[in-house]
Amino acid sequence: MASEGLHAPRERLTEKTLNLHHAIVSLTEELDAVDWYRQRADDCDDAQLKAILLHNMREEMEHAVMVLEWLRRNDTDFAGMLKEYLYTEGDIAHHED
Ligand SMILES: [Fe+2]
Repeated sequence: MASEGLHAPRERLTEKTLNLHHAIVSLTEELDAVDWYRQRADDCDDAQLKAILLHNMREEMEHAVMVLEWLRRNDTDFAGMLKEYLYTEGDIAHHED
């Protein structure tokens, strides 16, 4: 399994597109892991195990953010959107208005 989820023949994709695909898939996986750990922590009655699960959740957040930073550095469209929206105040949905 080189990479699932390609929507065009691999040989027609640029190296940049393939690298972005790997990053996007990885980001999705890291965010899924965050969600799974948080849900398991919510469902856990053992305080020590809950703490471990929440620690692991934060590790997955770190992984996700590292990939997001790679996306920012390697794709100007992502970089522009991140610059536009991150660390702003006010209404996110109507930020463009
Ligand atoms: Fe991870």
